Amino acid sequence: MKGVILAGGSGTRLRPLTGTLSKQVLPVYDKPMIYYPLSVLMLAGICDIQIISGKDHLEMFRSLLGDGDRIGLDISYAEQAEPRGIAEAFLIGKEHIGRDQVALILGDNVFHGPGFSSVLTASAARLDGCELFGYPVKDAQRYGVAEIDDGGQVLSIEEKPRHPRSNLAVTGLYLYDNDVVEIARTLRPSARGELEITDVNKVYLEQGRARLTELGRGFAWLDMGTHDSLLQAGQYVQLLEQRQGERIACIEEIALRMGFISAEQCYELGLELRASSYGDYLIDVATREASAVTLT
Ligand code: DAU
Repeated sequence: MKGVILAGGSGTRLRPLTGTLSKQVLPVYDKPMIYYPLSVLMLAGICDIQIISGKDHLEMFRSLLGDGDRIGLDISYAEQAEPRGIAEAFLIGKEHIGRDQVALILGDNVFHGPGFSSVLTASAARLDGCELFGYPVKDAQRYGVAEIDDGGQVLSIEEKPRHPRSNLAVTGLYLYDNDVVEIARTLRPSARGELEITDVNKVYLEQGRARLTELGRGFAWLDMGTHDSLLQAGQYVQLLEQRQGERIACIEEIALRMGFISAEQCYELGLELRASSYGDYLIDVATREASAVTLT
């Protein structure tokens, strides 16, 4: 399965923070925002990832993550000239996707919860059409909203409905079979002038091939569209990291746990960041992993 991170958009609601910076490199406590969606794809076992963003911002991501080799990934970059809709990612990314299935994640979404890697791999394993992830929210009219039956089959899906039929928001993580590229080609811009991801999902719904897994209690799903939600996400990460002593969305640690890099490589990456607590953490994680390997 290929991965795509959509990290464009104009970031107008976060001005002046986004005056010169891409929204998705802004700090969420101790790391850039894009680490969070990137870590989700990595937890799903995906190594071949394309980052799509506006021309002015691609260089920022390139200098941050390079070709991904240091953490065992293959990262490529592609330009979205204008924010013409989330579903345009499949048209821009079609060469990268090739004949594979694809996981699309929005660059401003944070997911955190127990056993998330297993949730992702289970959804990927049964993928036949599309797999969505839902999250109960109080303000459903701000999102794509789904109704599901007891088996997780999607019954209806609407984009920002004035009167939502459920409180289940469709999160910014989507798994699709290869038909998605063809489906995206048939889309027409919506009233707000965008190729809507909800219209893609509706095609799968009509085919009876749209499923949704509800991420319930104990899970956190945060999107960071406003100054308040950006700060709250940072505070959430700070609270858990300080309490538990474990980092959230630490891409080097995830690369190690997923077997993409060795303990030695993780150690080296830690040395490079040694002046920071993040670097010390990597050195610690790598050292513990190396001694566990030696002991077994
Ligand atoms: O966050 C989940 C929601 O994301 C879903 O529930 C909705 O169904 C979906 O339409 C989307 O809603 P938003 O209106 O919140 O999407 P927004 O336009 O804010 O874009 C989400 C992110 O994607 C944002 O970081 C900018 C980026 N983006 C967006 C568009 C339209 C792009 O990179 N390119 C684009 O063309």
